[in-house]
Amino acid sequence: MRLNALTAISRTAHAKINLCLHVTGQRDDGYHLLDTIVTFAEIGDQLTFENGDGVSLEISGPEAEGLVANGSNLVIKAADALANVANEHRGAKIELCKNLPVSSGIGGGSADAAATLVGLNDLWTKEYDSDALSKIGLSLGADVPMCLHGKPLRASGIGEQLEPVSMPAFSMVLVNPRVGVSTPEIFKALVKRDNPPAPRCPDSDDLSEWVSWLSRQRNDLQSSAIALHPSIQTALDSLETCASLLARMSGSGATCFGLFENDAQAAATAETIADQHPDWWVVATRSIV
Ligand code: C5P
Repeated sequence: MRLNALTAISRTAHAKINLCLHVTGQRDDGYHLLDTIVTFAEIGDQLTFENGDGVSLEISGPEAEGLVANGSNLVIKAADALANVANEHRGAKIELCKNLPVSSGIGGGSADAAATLVGLNDLWTKEYDSDALSKIGLSLGADVPMCLHGKPLRASGIGEQLEPVSMPAFSMVLVNPRVGVSTPEIFKALVKRDNPPAPRCPDSDDLSEWVSWLSRQRNDLQSSAIALHPSIQTALDSLETCASLLARMSGSGATCFGLFENDAQAAATAETIADQHPDWWVVATRSIV
């Protein structure tokens, strides 16, 4: 809650990190079946919601460029979807401070939509439970239900069947080599769609157990993303050179993550990579448990 007005609500839309992402099949409607382990990072977009006439959106922040505040924005779509279901006419003034790069594989738009559903559910005192919000969320995008969950999980189906998972809080570095990636294009470029799912994952918060397990898993979108955008390989190489425990692409890219022993190593690595590639988006962060 912000202090300036009783009716203002603040939410963080946390970055979603696919620690592994196995593509296991394809549905008749074209959507792919996935088996993915996901965690969320402390870094995220910031949203505030206040009462307003109609639904309005203002976008600011370091990653705002190129985003439009109209009906094509997932925030507006989420607000409209909730208002429709709830038959709500009160409106809302929404501010979005965009810190996460767009079209970057870390679910920024989906997390914004999820934060909007939760924020407006509170602002409009609707009391929809998480199942109801998930159902609305899924109509906006396959990743929205997992962003509503916001904690470590395993997702299957097209990303909507969720199971909580125990894992440690990872010290991580996120690197985006500044290429916008089209998710449908990456799925379309897949050569193989019937890959094996991941085996049973650790049920513990032990870092080395998780790193060892994750290093045997994959992101099945990674090679087709690299083929289309070779700078993703350069981003992975930069993380590997800095002795990350594991470096992999998230989602359909282009953002890659590296896991580190501790926050100090992650911070030092972020500084080194940012020095070498001043045009890249590079942050040290921690995952949420
Ligand atoms: O659901 P969302 O709009 O985020 O997905 C964007 C696109 O990514 C879809 O239109 C589809 O082409 C592809 N996709 C997919 N299988 C998934 C998720 C997304 O093929 N499970």
